Amino acid sequence: MRGINRGRPGQPGDAVIVTGSGTGIGLETSLHLAAAGFRVYATVRNPDQRAGLAATASERGVELEILTLDLTDRTSIAAAVATVVSETGSVFGLVNNGGVGLRGYTEDCSEEEIRHLFETNVLGTIAVTQAVIPHMRKAGCGRIVTVSSVGGRVPGFGVTMYCASKFAQEGFGEGLAQELAPLGIQSVIIEPGIIKTTRWSRHRGTAARANDPSSPYHELFWASEAIADKLVERSPTRPEHVASAIGEALSAKQPRMRYVVGRGASLVIALRRYMPQSLFERLYFGGHIRRVERRSKGGGAAPSMESSG
Ligand SMILES: NC(=O)c1ccc[n+]([C@@H]2O[C@H](COP(=O)([O-])OP(=O)(O)OC[C@H]3O[C@@H](n4cnc5c(N)ncnc54)[C@H](OP(=O)(O)O)[C@@H]3O)[C@@H](O)[C@H]2O)c1
Repeated sequence: MRGINRGRPGQPGDAVIVTGSGTGIGLETSLHLAAAGFRVYATVRNPDQRAGLAATASERGVELEILTLDLTDRTSIAAAVATVVSETGSVFGLVNNGGVGLRGYTEDCSEEEIRHLFETNVLGTIAVTQAVIPHMRKAGCGRIVTVSSVGGRVPGFGVTMYCASKFAQEGFGEGLAQELAPLGIQSVIIEPGIIKTTRWSRHRGTAARANDPSSPYHELFWASEAIADKLVERSPTRPEHVASAIGEALSAKQPRMRYVVGRGASLVIALRRYMPQSLFERLYFGGHIRRVERRSKGGGAAPSMESSG
């Protein structure tokens, strides 16, 4: 396609903004990219996390620039991007990592909980992306890497709202890839499977009503959560694996549009892609429903292949 700007891969010294750098995948990604030579602007929602993050970076022997960025606050997004541009001249990379979870059956999720989920995971991701695009466009290059989930391709049980937010990220990331390719900017989607991070403990995001024993879904939901917890404990995938895929997405000459991270996630996505739809629905969704039902009736069910973090 002669005449189209293909941009360029990231190189040492390029500025990269990472959202949600205080914990889990965002933390590991910030450290990994800094070790690879990027000028990393690691961002945290809560300024109290800055000192801890600086200490971790120093222990790991890397340098991070640390800024505050709250995905639900446009002023903080604009201020963070303005700081990066004034200090470095542009923004080469954005890693849309920060986000929240929401676990619970749809009827058990309140409007407020759903709004907060979409404000953070979807509208927040879009807002940071909109803030960096003009700078990438002027530079004629850039990479926008969005951390979706296997749950953005195949919804998990009892996390429908979270998966809906991840499906929205998928559509956004894929549409963006088409819009921005002629400008030399690539949009890449990362799809991790289950990884044991704070997402599965203090950031679990269980809907308040899902904890209520009078909920009609209480037994089914908690049976499904017990299965998910087993998967979390057994999953060999680590934040480092996601960090490495993100590093590849930023540095590859021609990055793929999607990187799936983890064996379980790869298997589920491949089954969905290659199996006839009705067979997949019967085996995968049907199998999971049967396991959850058995477990909720007290019959120790075996865990299924993958869930959604
Ligand atoms: N762990 C998994 O199994 C898994 C699987 C697939 C995909 N993912 C995705 O990977 C990404 C990182 O998740 P993780 O596992 O590392 O979980 P995590 O430890 O909960 O990390 C999420 C980060 O997002 C930040 N965040 C939340 N609300 C924010 C806001 N309004 N503004 C800015 N930052 C905000 C959190 O900061 P605070 O501490 O301030 O709340 C936290 O540092 C998420 O997008 C998640 O959906 C995770």
